[in-house]
Amino acid sequence: MMVSLVILAAGQGSRMQSDLPKVLHPLGAAPLVVHAMRAGRALDPDSVVVVVGHGGDAVAQVVHAEDEAAIVVTQEAQLGTAHAVAQARAALAGAPGDVVVLYGDTPFIRGETLNAMIAARKIHDVVVLGFEAADPGRYGRLVTTGDTLERIVEFKDASEAERAITLCNSGVICADRATLFDLIAQVSNDNVAGEYYLTDIVALATAKGLSAGVVTCPEAETLGINTRTELAQAEVTFQARARAEALEDGAILVAPETVYFAQDTVVGRGAIVEQFVVFGPGVTVENGATIRAFSHLEGAHVSRGAVVGPYARLRPGAELSENVHVGNFVEIKNAALGEGAKVNHLSYVGDATIGARANLGAGTVTCNYDGVFKHHTEIGEGAFIGSSTMLVAPVRVGAEAMTGSGSVITSDVPDGALALGRARQDTKPGLGKRLMDRLRAAKAAKMKG
Ligand code: UD1
Ligand code: CA
Repeated sequence: MMVSLVILAAGQGSRMQSDLPKVLHPLGAAPLVVHAMRAGRALDPDSVVVVVGHGGDAVAQVVHAEDEAAIVVTQEAQLGTAHAVAQARAALAGAPGDVVVLYGDTPFIRGETLNAMIAARKIHDVVVLGFEAADPGRYGRLVTTGDTLERIVEFKDASEAERAITLCNSGVICADRATLFDLIAQVSNDNVAGEYYLTDIVALATAKGLSAGVVTCPEAETLGINTRTELAQAEVTFQARARAEALEDGAILVAPETVYFAQDTVVGRGAIVEQFVVFGPGVTVENGATIRAFSHLEGAHVSRGAVVGPYARLRPGAELSENVHVGNFVEIKNAALGEGAKVNHLSYVGDATIGARANLGAGTVTCNYDGVFKHHTEIGEGAFIGSSTMLVAPVRVGAEAMTGSGSVITSDVPDGALALGRARQDTKPGLGKRLMDRLRAAKAAKMKG
């Protein structure tokens, strides 16, 4: 079955009290709209249309970064959810199959739930995702007779009896594309809010003799974000789930409640993640790697047997091969470290390629930035970089080469060579003690006088 996805993301989200469009607020280090897009991916959609309004350009940028092929359409004025979906009509003209409508501010919908809706389309022309609300509040109510959904009534327009219904509308809706847009064309704004309600298509469908049905999911899945408080609570929920999923997948979390995941974090079976580790976006930790306490990782790949931290920072482009060791107070950015390479203490490795088994001593720094351009450092296999070596890029240290401690390396070092880039030591016999004695005497004289 061919499926298209329409994600509504035009609302202002004024209750967020934010300059950022609501759907760009991060949850698990990914913008809310990206969560909706990733949930929709479970349907393997042929087209994805995102309806934007407020902050449209910024939203479009994020949408395209996630999916180049996504189509962004603009809803100039927010006249209601039916009007929003109508903006996708031209983009989906002629698309065969179903359309699933999702909200950009509802990040917890699971792929399985969306697939259950598609499956229910075999029975009903229109399928709505509903949930039993603990507190139905201002949600739209689903008016059902047996298995059939008769209509959806918005809270504002509902009678007392209808408000007593606890089966609520999540907003996710699915129908054949042609049917959906035909029904939407008939929606009016004759209601208390003066809006074009997408929910009205259910009554319009049943009036035509089409059938509508409900698929239900847990309330937690349909949670929408409207305020910063809700976003903060959603983050708590997200982290709890991410930890549980990581544990289920076989990761070893020593203190799960202290580990923070991003939406796309992958931690392999038997990988150890110690206390207080933070994952930003784009991190994969392979089976059997160890991330020690207080480390911060983003955009990084850590292979089997590698050990990171404690107190390490991996920034985007950090590529650690098997059995690499990155120790305390080490920062790695845009650098590939070959198998078994070691950077154990107090170092910065940026824009670099480090050969297998190379050992970078304490305080090694790749001086990669000249104030305007970034330059590359290459260190060959098995090279030994003495402590506190400054590698002024662009520069290459050959395989099996060495640099003396405290060297400033400004030109390439051939394979197997030793490079010393430091002032020669000058030693004056006895002078240290004589100098110290003189200073102590001066101090004593001063105290007396
Ligand atoms: C909507 C449903 C309601 C349901 C609730 C679930 C309608 C009429 N009502 O109500 O039955 O219980 O969601 O949360 O559909 N949007 C646009 N353009 C618009 C209007 C809305 O893009 O013109 C987007 C919003 O950004 C938001 C989503 O659609 O992501 C829902 O809109 P919102 O105004 O929050 O609908 P509710 O009143 O909450
Ligand atoms: Ca809402």
